[in-house]
Amino acid sequence: MIMMKGVQKILIDEKQIDADVERLAAQINLDYEGKDLLLVGLLKGSFVFLSDLMKKITLPCSVDFMVVSSYGAATVSSGKVNMKKDLSEDIRGKDVLIVEDIIDSGITLNAVMDILKGREPASLKLCSLLSKPSRRVQEVQIDYLGREIPDEFVIGYGLDYNEKYRNLPYIGIIDPDYI
Ligand code: IMP
Ligand code: MG
Repeated sequence: MIMMKGVQKILIDEKQIDADVERLAAQINLDYEGKDLLLVGLLKGSFVFLSDLMKKITLPCSVDFMVVSSYGAATVSSGKVNMKKDLSEDIRGKDVLIVEDIIDSGITLNAVMDILKGREPASLKLCSLLSKPSRRVQEVQIDYLGREIPDEFVIGYGLDYNEKYRNLPYIGIIDPDYI
């Protein structure tokens, strides 16, 4: 495979991602049978994962998006969460499944959970492709997790560094020379 400039190595390849997504969708299909499933993607990082995941969900479901940010242009969380775009629909009574790319400090997710809980959904759960448990500042319950990764800054499959590399089909580790 030809690697894009700036990528040091591949951490999770396309086949591994596909297997993770398949497994998560299979569990979601079992758990949400007969429910009013609404997938809530946190933009921008989750859009690649969300689109692959929803194609493997065999239940009727709707999808909505939020934009929140806790990161500026750096690779370290600022600890502040800023809601830039809210959901377009009411979630009261819906079975909401938040879809996120990665849980790092846990600050973003806790803030989003608090906001959405207050709107009285029937249920509220979290699905994340990746988690860096060693970086946790606030505890987060991840109901559906792709896999845990070490404390390295990863790019690709929706995840960016300075808005670049989201288009990589795999999860890679950035070359430190490019940071
Ligand atoms: P948290 O609030 O620290 O959990 O931050 C979560 C957000 O930070 C994720 O949704 C990502 O957008 C971003 N993030 C955290 N770690 C990485 C990484 O390794 N690569 C790219 N983005 C990351
Ligand atoms: Mg994100």
